Amino acid sequence: MGRPKPETKSWSQINKTKKEEKRKWKELNLIKKLEKQKEKEANESLAASSKAENTARKVSTISVAVPGSILETAQSQELRAYLAGQIARAVCIFQVDEIVVFDDYGDEANAKKATLQDNYGVKNIRESCVQLGRILQYMECPQYLRKYFFPIHHHLKFCGVLNPLNAPHHLGKDDHFSFREGVVTNKPVKPGRGSIVNVGLLKEVHVDKLLTPGLRCTVKLLPDQETSKKLKGIIVAPSTPKNETGTYWGYTIRLANSLSSVFSQCPFEKGYDLTVGTSDKGTSVDEFECPSFDHALIVFGGVQGLEVALESDDVFNVDNPKLIFDHYLNTLPDQGSRTIRTEEAVLVTLAALRPKLLQGSETNTSTN
Ligand SMILES: C[S@@+](CC[C@H](N)C(=O)[O-])C[C@H]1O[C@@H](n2cnc3c(N)ncnc32)[C@H](O)[C@@H]1O
Repeated sequence: MGRPKPETKSWSQINKTKKEEKRKWKELNLIKKLEKQKEKEANESLAASSKAENTARKVSTISVAVPGSILETAQSQELRAYLAGQIARAVCIFQVDEIVVFDDYGDEANAKKATLQDNYGVKNIRESCVQLGRILQYMECPQYLRKYFFPIHHHLKFCGVLNPLNAPHHLGKDDHFSFREGVVTNKPVKPGRGSIVNVGLLKEVHVDKLLTPGLRCTVKLLPDQETSKKLKGIIVAPSTPKNETGTYWGYTIRLANSLSSVFSQCPFEKGYDLTVGTSDKGTSVDEFECPSFDHALIVFGGVQGLEVALESDDVFNVDNPKLIFDHYLNTLPDQGSRTIRTEEAVLVTLAALRPKLLQGSETNTSTN
């Protein structure tokens, strides 16, 4: 029995199938091209609308300054950590944008110093300021990112048991929100493509910019991607989520070597336009009428009050703290205890000032 003869195709048939394949391939390529173009346009319009909304919307900020030395009065490392955690929770509850940790004994030559990188660079400062700053940074960082940014450190030994901030940017893997904090991965990307970012979801996000691996960043996710295999997003400023959605997005940390540098190293171009000092010797908060403002600063003293911080300062040439602030307020007139501790004063003061600051930020119509 002979083998069956293979089916032979005529040249015209072969040419026809080839042509058909070529047509399909061309179609596929065109679809891919169109998809890419659409994606690019969506990215661009998202970036443009983010930028436009950011510049159009005026958002006031609140900064709080506290001396790191308050940790030195705590009796144990556990209590030090707890105290720092109380400050973190207080400022988060009241949506504070910036915490300045300052050295209120700036002139002490024998004070133990340490270094910490704040939002602006590496600072060498009194160790209690570093510990307070480090714990505040740790608390602010979303849980899923902590392992990338906080190696084991004795300052953080008891932080695992602190009450969490539960801030809106501390999102779980099943939470849905258009913005997320992330860490840039070291996964290789094709030339011309942006980085891959871990934002605490099961899928990583391909972003529009190529960034240094290990960097913390804020990502705006493109809409309607639930069913997509790959997630896409754009890198935005950390202030964008709050500016665009009004959602509180955590605080920044700044370390200052003295009371005067709390003011002089202000990160806002035009400085703080409302400054409030706090003391039981101030005027009653009940009489305070809040002017409109862009950037408010509220300063707290340590165990010995703001007088000591002023005495230790080489720049300020006055002896009454009242003279360096726009307002010097007693935020708990008729206090029942002879002394209010700084961590208590932060809560009391922010609660007393909240409705007033709200009014001051709403009456302001400038863009910044
Ligand atoms: C232990 S107190 C310092 C001592 C001092 N009696 C004073 O208020 O200046 C620590 C800090 O808590 C804040 N504080 C205490 N009592 C306050 C009050 N009645 N009103 C506003 N702030 C107060 C101030 O910032 C103060 O520097």
